[in-house]
Formats: sequence, C-alpha cells, structure tokens
Amino acid sequence: MSQSSTDPTATVRTSKNQLFCCKSIDKLIAESEAPGQRLKKTLGPWSLTALGIGAIIGAGIFILTGTAAAGEDQPPSMLHAQVLDVIIGFLHGGMSHVLMQGRPPAGPSIAISFLLVAIACSFAGLCYAELASMIPIAGSAYTYSYATLGEIFAWIIGWDLILEYVVSNVVVAIGFGAYTKAQLASFGFNLPDRWSTPVWESGRWTGAYFNFPAFLIVFILTVLLVRGVRESAEANNVMVAIKIGAILIFLLVGGALIKPGNWRPFAPAGLSGIVSGGAIVFFTYIGFDSVSTAAEEARNPQRDMPFGIIASLVICTILYIGVSIVLLGMMKYTTFVSGEAAEAPVAYALQKLGANRWSQSVIVIGALMGMISSLLVFQYGQARIWYAMSRDRLFPALFSKVHPKFQTPYYSTWIAGFAVGVPAGIFAVSDAADLSNIGTLFAFVLVSFGVIVLRRSQPGRPRVFRVPFVPWFPLISIVLCGGLMTGLLVITWLRFIIWLGIGLLIYFFYSRHRSEFAKKQP
Ligand code: ALA
Repeated sequence: MSQSSTDPTATVRTSKNQLFCCKSIDKLIAESEAPGQRLKKTLGPWSLTALGIGAIIGAGIFILTGTAAAGEDQPPSMLHAQVLDVIIGFLHGGMSHVLMQGRPPAGPSIAISFLLVAIACSFAGLCYAELASMIPIAGSAYTYSYATLGEIFAWIIGWDLILEYVVSNVVVAIGFGAYTKAQLASFGFNLPDRWSTPVWESGRWTGAYFNFPAFLIVFILTVLLVRGVRESAEANNVMVAIKIGAILIFLLVGGALIKPGNWRPFAPAGLSGIVSGGAIVFFTYIGFDSVSTAAEEARNPQRDMPFGIIASLVICTILYIGVSIVLLGMMKYTTFVSGEAAEAPVAYALQKLGANRWSQSVIVIGALMGMISSLLVFQYGQARIWYAMSRDRLFPALFSKVHPKFQTPYYSTWIAGFAVGVPAGIFAVSDAADLSNIGTLFAFVLVSFGVIVLRRSQPGRPRVFRVPFVPWFPLISIVLCGGLMTGLLVITWLRFIIWLGIGLLIYFFYSRHRSEFAKKQP
C-alpha cells in the first residue's frame, strides 16, 4: 500500500473504489490527539488481566443470569422463534416443530453456556488483538478497520459498535436502576413502581411512566465525563477488587441457601436452551476486547496479550459459573421469568430466602459500584468513537467539537448520554441485551474475517501480536460467534438488519460524500 512520503496529513487513495479506500496509518498518527507520541510500555500480564476484568464484569452477571436461565414466554409467532430452531426445522423439513414462543430456557445448564461463550470469546479476543496491534495508535475496531480493510468496513463496524456501547449500557443502566430500587426497598424506602420500572417489556406496555433511576445514573455520569473524569489504572484495580469481593461473598452467602432439587431438570430445553442462554449471557463477556486495545502499552505483547485476554476470561468464567450454579440452586429457574426476579435476580433471591441483611447490602452495593465503572468505560468509549468518526467526516462535525474548558468531546458525550439514558428509562433488560449481543458478535465475526484477509493482502505489515494457526483460529472464532448469533430470536435478527440498513443509507446518502476520499482522484 502506498503512503505519502512527505506530508503525512495528505490524502492518499489506496483503491480506485472509495468503499475500499484505507486511511494512511501515518495520517492516523498525525491526526491523533498526541501526534507521533509513543505510548509508554508499562503494562505487564497482570495489569492487562485487571484491565480485562474491569471491563468485563459489569451488570450482566447480576441481571441476565436469571432471565437467560428462565427463557422467555411469548404468544406464538415466527418473530419469536429462535434462529437455530428455525434452521434445524428447515433442514429437517419440519417447520411445524419450530418453537415460536420466545427463547427456550437454559435452566441450570446456563453454567455450560457460560463456558461455551468463554471459549468463543477467547478465539475472537486473539483476532481482535492482532488487528489492534497492527495500528500503532490507541483506538477502536473502527480505526483499525479504516486503516486496513477500507471505508465501508470501517463504517459498518463503527455503526455496529453503537450496539455494543450504547445498547449494552442501556442494559447496565436498567440493571443499576433495578438493584438501586431493591436496595432502597431493603432500607424500607420504596420507590414508586410507575417511576422506577420499565415502560415497555416483552412487547407490552407495563403502565409505568419512566424508569427514573436508570436515566438518572447515566445523566450524572455524563456530567462527570463532560468535565473530564476518567478511570485511572489504580481506580480500575480497586473496582476489580470490589467486584470480585461482591461475587465471592455472594457465593458464600448464597451457597448456604442452596436446595439441590432446584438443579433438576438441569437442561430443560437441551441444546437449544444452552445456545440460547449463551447468546444472552454473551453480554456478560462484552468488554474483554478492551485488553486488545492496550497492545501498544504492553511490555511484551506477543506473550502478555494472549495471557491478559485468556486470564481475564478464565477468571470471569469461573466466577460466572459459580454465580449461576449458586443462584439456580437457590431458586428454581422458572422464578426468574419476569418482574423484579428477572431484573435483579441476585438481590431478589437473597431477599426472598432471608439472607443476612448486612451481607445482602455488601453484595448489592459492590454490584452497583461495578456497574458504575462499566457504564463509565462504555460511555467514554462511545463518545470517543463518534469523535473519531466525525473527525473522519463520516459523522457530522458537531460530534468532534471539543469543550473549550474541559477539552472533552462534549456534544458526543451528551448525545451518548441521552441515547443511553432515555431508552434505559423505557425498555426492559432482555430486549436491549439481545440487540447488543448480536451487534457485538457481528463485529467479532468481521474482525476475525479481517485477520484472515489481511494476512493475505498485507503479509508484510508489522504485527506486534500474531494469532497462532491462521486461518484456523479466526475460522473457529467465526463459527462460534456465528453459532451464538443463531441462538437469538428472529425478531432480534430483523432489528439488527434494519439497524445495519439504516446505517448503510446514512453512509451512501451522507457520509460517503463528505469523506476525505470522496472527490480526490487516484
Ligand atoms: N460485560 C459487561 C456487563 O456484563 C457489559 O455488564
């Protein structure tokens, strides 16, 4: 690929077709906030692991384990059939056997779903690390793909990442609201249901007006982010310790309340329940890709990146499997199908089974703090991705306006705040989690595919980290992530396809004409 030899900021077309034009890496560096500045290589294997755990453990484990185990009961409709079930029905010529009543329950076998998802994430994480390490600046998959795959891929990934960042934070904010409500109730202070529960749940109006606590937390964090608050490595380590502590206390307290009969039947819907549960709890692993973005700051990336990714996944998987076994031993999986039990299952189970008040509060407050740190990281990340897309002129200029005093992209930050806060005030957890998962899984499929393509098209480009056994490892990642996508419902696929369609319309009617590659001739 030719790069400008004199002026690093000049635009150089790398393809006759604008869709496949790549941004010059020199230009990316020149445009980044600290031009040409090399990041300090300070992170060792355990700091990378802590980074991963900090991003991975948020609200998911405390809110989705119950609903994924319980499944979802819907009036029969093709829209609520699981895609895997439809495919199997289609192959066997027996569409009449397809269950069209929402997600099948995983039951206690959700523990197996956690394990399967962790394996899929390990392969995807390695691919992500290679792509991240090819671009010598900190950034996101959007930036990496603009420099390596071309403008249209960058746009699709950037647009798709909105599902990973915005929609996943909607889920975390809803979880925060539900746990805050439960905790206040345990202090004898009951928030009015109409102002603290979802307005729309499983395709129905609930009669509530607005989920105010879920909105409020995002609003407060947005004010802080506009003023330039960012989590430091030390703060991250403290948060990691608090989160792990809260989970370990839950394992001890909840473990004493287990009734083994609740573990039967172990897998009420067999394989489709396990895959469907996996497609939901995939959410709990979102964020591990953040380890890969630290490739440039790692002391020994070839050795420590895979260590950081795999170690953080292993530790979280052990904790997650522990929580699911304990929670589903405490109460029958069917308990968690809707209402408070679905929104805040850990708090619900502890309270219903009369766990010690003090330990309940420690667990819930620990969980709430974990959720705040997760919200902060993702709100920060989303504003920076929009900022980058706006700087590349694919998004309106407003998104890259920097606050004169605080030096933060304040418009992007506020827009991200409302884009998360308002839906968090309206929707329920499961609707939002499904959409976030399909978007993130799709990004992982593209990233894994990108690794195979780039090994062929740009074999000579330096890579700080290389995935072993290419193309097999990326192919395994594509199959496993694609397989998890089939665990989701037809309606989630439709929402996702509509989302991508809207994105492509914006690209072809707006962004493409404003891009730096729009007019220049090769
Ligand atoms: N993995 C993060 C969570 O579970 C998004 O909240």
